[in-house]
Amino acid sequence: MKRLVILSGAGMSAESGIRTFRDMNGLWEEYDVMEVASIQAWHKNPELLLRFYNDRRIQMMASHPNQGHLLLAELEKSFDVRIITQNVDDLHERAGSRSVLHLHGELTKARSTKDPSLVYLLKNPEMKIGDLCEKGSQLRPHIVWFGEEVTEMENAIELTQTADILCVIGTSLNVYPAAGLINYAPRHIPVFLIDPNPPAHLPGRIQVIPEKAGKGVAILIERLKDVAE
Ligand code: APR
Repeated sequence: MKRLVILSGAGMSAESGIRTFRDMNGLWEEYDVMEVASIQAWHKNPELLLRFYNDRRIQMMASHPNQGHLLLAELEKSFDVRIITQNVDDLHERAGSRSVLHLHGELTKARSTKDPSLVYLLKNPEMKIGDLCEKGSQLRPHIVWFGEEVTEMENAIELTQTADILCVIGTSLNVYPAAGLINYAPRHIPVFLIDPNPPAHLPGRIQVIPEKAGKGVAILIERLKDVAE
């Protein structure tokens, strides 16, 4: 089976009702990203960050995978699909995708502030000051904040280098190092990008499908019909 690597961003979950970041009325229009999604903000006002991520976690739980997520899970019948996502929601997993690498963390998890190897699946969606890890230190959202290392980047690069086909879905390619992943795709492979408002200045080799994720993945499946084996 050919390996289809997907790089997804917030646009992947837009049709599930989860706001993107840099679109019109995106999340960063309402909040100052450095006030709610940076390690400095966590040290300054942890309660604010816990509330911000509680709200996003509750919204995620009220959302459902959209057609784009479901079709990607369906594609596992014909391709070795590996998803690398910048999203912190669990919609790819809930749609049935079995290989999902989260570059920027996961809303469903919390981790120790003393020992980052201690990661817990959250039972209660509302985190608060006083929720402690087994070593007695405050729990924090298992999210990669601005100013922090993207620890999964090496794994994502290795995975991208093994792709037979790459498809970028729903990301403005604004945030590095994630945005740089497309440069690690083997030179000879087909690269697709699904986005109703595709980023400008894309490399000429990228085949743009200017649609929302749901319709875009359906078009991708048609395009891939002649490469599946
Ligand atoms: N289907 C597909 N793409 C869509 C849709 C849709 N229904 N709606 C919007 N888009 C596209 C937009 O045109 C845009 O190019 O999704 C992209 C969303 O871009 P951003 O809001 O910048 O989100 P993303 O690229 O995922 O941000 C990267 O930045 O704030 C940080 O950590 C955060 O992971 C995030 C990172």
